[in-house]
Amino acid sequence: MSHLQQRKTASSQGAPQQEPTFQRNSPRKRTTTSSTSGVGTFLLTLGLIIVTGLATSWIVTDSLTFGYPIPNWRKLLHRHEITLTTAELAQYDGTDPSKPIYLAINGKVYDVSAGPQYYGKGGGYNFFSGKDAARAYITGCFQTHLTHDLRGLSEAQIKTLDQWTDFYAKHDQYFYVGKVIHDPIPEDAPIPEDCNAQTSESAS
Ligand code: HEM
Repeated sequence: MSHLQQRKTASSQGAPQQEPTFQRNSPRKRTTTSSTSGVGTFLLTLGLIIVTGLATSWIVTDSLTFGYPIPNWRKLLHRHEITLTTAELAQYDGTDPSKPIYLAINGKVYDVSAGPQYYGKGGGYNFFSGKDAARAYITGCFQTHLTHDLRGLSEAQIKTLDQWTDFYAKHDQYFYVGKVIHDPIPEDAPIPEDCNAQTSESAS
């Protein structure tokens, strides 16, 4: 074996023994370890503060947010007004859980996904979803007046819709998303009968 080969062999044999000593005593290594444990302590403290806060809120207010509503991510992300046809609006009736729930009042469309207990499948007011049932909002005829056809109603009756559009527009979880464009109502289409009149007639 040549001198050169002997020196190479000796150095490569010695290297693994010296390497751990250098690593252990390296100032850089000590800094990394201490900053890691610092981050760990910080995360642990933060976690404790959050858990304590959530527990306190739950005990005091029966909610995890001290009674404040959790922001609606759909509302936060909503940017642009949309325009739908009647058929497109019908797709947002709460049947497909991957889609938002929309309803419309006199052409104005609102996102009511935050109220699935009312507007979702099986909800008490699901018949309003995916359509413009402005007439039923006025008359309370939830079977026969699920239409935007307001013919035959007085100005004062139509004005009562403002309360509902205000309700949806100013709600902290529901919000206005755009418009629905309906096909024109045929002139010879019969005006929907008043379900309340039928009830009072049959009662007398
Ligand atoms: C024109 C008539 C009516 C209309 C248009 C109407 C509409 C609505 C709507 C849209 C909601 C859901 C509100 C939300 O999103 O937070 C609701 C909830 C409710 N409505 Fe009506 N409503 C009418 C009449 C009535 C009547 C006559 C009663 C009682 C006999 C009633 C009892 C309720 C109750 C109890 C809730 C809350 C449901 C719950 O907490 O699960 N509504 N109504």
